[in-house]
Amino acid sequence: MMEEAQYFAPVNQDEHGEVTVELAKSHPGFADPVYRSRRNALARLALDHRRGDPIPVAEYTAEEHEVWRLVSRELAAKHERYAIREFLEAKERLGLPRDRIPQLQEISEMLQPLTGFRYLPAAGLVPLREFYGSLADSYFHSTQYIRHHSVPFYTPEPDVIHEVIGHGNTLASDRFAALYRAAGRAARRVESQEALEFVSKVFWFTLEFGVMAEGSELRAYGAGILSSYGEIEEFRSMNIRPLDLATMGTTQYDITKYQDVLFRAESMDHLEDVAGAFWEECDDDSIDRLSRSTVGR
Ligand SMILES: [Fe+2]
Repeated sequence: MMEEAQYFAPVNQDEHGEVTVELAKSHPGFADPVYRSRRNALARLALDHRRGDPIPVAEYTAEEHEVWRLVSRELAAKHERYAIREFLEAKERLGLPRDRIPQLQEISEMLQPLTGFRYLPAAGLVPLREFYGSLADSYFHSTQYIRHHSVPFYTPEPDVIHEVIGHGNTLASDRFAALYRAAGRAARRVESQEALEFVSKVFWFTLEFGVMAEGSELRAYGAGILSSYGEIEEFRSMNIRPLDLATMGTTQYDITKYQDVLFRAESMDHLEDVAGAFWEECDDDSIDRLSRSTVGR
């Protein structure tokens, strides 16, 4: 799940209960009425879902399963070259199907015995406090649609490939699951919108777009990089900065482009010592001090 409103197609419901996902004209599925009606149906499933109930089955077409097959095969090869060991081991442990799109219910049932995490279907943008707060209870809000089959390696919005291949594999790691939960507790603890956004930016620059030293190489652990066919080849040439809470929490980013500023953890221990400890302890006052420490830098 990513967080900027314009990044998610808006979901509207009219007075008759009809649900419409408003795709932009530039969206690859914009002119495909079959895709549009499936997007509407999936949004409806998510809106009607109540926590605790089984997640309704999403019907996918053969072309969509083929997108998953293709992208998961290509990403698997790239993961071997670019992903950190902790991710590769978690991915092995989870064992996602590679030949078809798994259902969110099925992924929940695979993850829960491993780390306690379960999925919840999201129609589109989930408000920050709800999205992050649910992580504290080991719930991950996830979109269920897949990108348009005409461009299998591109998506303008987070789809099931991002949510499951990126986040789902990561959530099969005990250490990462603990970090997601800690971020969730931080989101519940802070009161101001500014502090909440700071917490979410630290999440963005670590669990979505974090990179880590491993041996003599730079590897990735962020779900946004590990689910992106293009970005995973580019991250080593980006502007790599040391892991620093004040900078991460106050750096603006453009969600529609490749992330050109990335933050490097030296190890899993380092990530836990910096981001994990921050989420465990932060409050409005400590975040305010961190934010002000960057003024004039
Ligand atoms: Fe995400």
